Amino acid sequence: MLPDLVMSKVWKIGVAGLGTVGGGLVKYLVEHPGFAPAGGKAVVTGVCARSRSRPRDFDIATFDWYDDPVLLAQSPQTDIFVELIGGSDGPAKVAVEAALALGKPVVTANKALIAEHGAELARLAEAHGAPLLFEAAVMGGTPAVKMLREAMVGDEVISVAGILNGTCNYILTEMESHERAFADVLGEAQAKGYAEADPTMDIGGFDAAHKITILAALAFGCAPNYAAAEIEGVERVELLDIRLARELGYRIRLTASAEKAGDGISVRVHPALAPIAHPLSQTVGATNALFIKGVRIPRIFIQGPGAGEGPTAAACCADIADVMTGAVRPVFQKPATQLKTPKPIDAAHRTGQAYLRLMVRDEAGALAAVTEALAEAGVSIDSFLQKPVEDEGRVPIVLTTHEVAETKIMDAVTRLAALPQVLESPRLIRIARA
Ligand code: HSE
Repeated sequence: MLPDLVMSKVWKIGVAGLGTVGGGLVKYLVEHPGFAPAGGKAVVTGVCARSRSRPRDFDIATFDWYDDPVLLAQSPQTDIFVELIGGSDGPAKVAVEAALALGKPVVTANKALIAEHGAELARLAEAHGAPLLFEAAVMGGTPAVKMLREAMVGDEVISVAGILNGTCNYILTEMESHERAFADVLGEAQAKGYAEADPTMDIGGFDAAHKITILAALAFGCAPNYAAAEIEGVERVELLDIRLARELGYRIRLTASAEKAGDGISVRVHPALAPIAHPLSQTVGATNALFIKGVRIPRIFIQGPGAGEGPTAAACCADIADVMTGAVRPVFQKPATQLKTPKPIDAAHRTGQAYLRLMVRDEAGALAAVTEALAEAGVSIDSFLQKPVEDEGRVPIVLTTHEVAETKIMDAVTRLAALPQVLESPRLIRIARA
């Protein structure tokens, strides 16, 4: 049985940031005064946002208003500080630090903050005995953080990989299913509220990189190391590649992965081909998906909403519930003072399969030159597709490679680009591991 204090305590919640997630959280807590997973009660007491007068679909007059999130964090009327401002630096960071320095629990959805400053914030939190919780920062309402922080603690995680950006997945799905151009679909993702305030964060792969950096730290018990993440977004994915990939039996997805090899960890975000029947290809629209591979638990797959008001606000509520029950765990698996920054894995030690698209001149010997360049680089072809000649004697050629060292694939790309018969820079897209 829980202690009486936990059962009866009224927790005063201060919410900084009243955008999609903050607004959703406040509305939920107001409309559900019975939200009391631990028997206590969560009551929003104070709020803070950029504009007090902006029209909202809930009444803020019943809360104390703060212009400065730091004052909200420090207020005696705030027991739990919920930071939903966003941004890796600036007011969000200062306010979170102010709360933690006073030993106040912090709940945040701020992936940039945790990915870029997670280690120092974890030290501050643990030094002051304050929980720092961020379930909503990764995969919205799908509990990836709890799964790694709590459920996988009994095993050793080998890799985590999946789809962590709903905007990009929505764009890729729409491009494929309705043969639409990239720019056209991006506007729609923004209108639906999936995209970040600055959509470059989504389409450039940075949002997914923040999230996989956090998952890597939780999975491997290390300091988040965003600076070492290798990031490529979806801006260069063309409808042509989506069509050609489909002809070869694949879909294109923006994948985020983190894996361990020796004492090194590789954290990467890039477009990748997955066979059409693969769960990643079957993850459509703004949905997110994640594979977790462990030593004793060989493979877990979770899939669910990665964005949006309801799911993300629900994830914040789950963290509030953890604070209310008094659950205490290190922020990233190990005590913050023991967290080490992982070494990146050298590309020379990585292998994989790739898709290569070439535009070649339609003349005798062009194909021979291509296959010779691949042979010289030590890259063997798995499948091959040549499309009919386009305007001005140009022929699109697509091939997939067998598993080979990534350095050899890069060498092949350099050799192919230098061929007089190859008219455009070769397009390389990796193939996701099964
Ligand atoms: N912009 C993010 C996405 C929102 O599209 O997944 C959730 O972090």
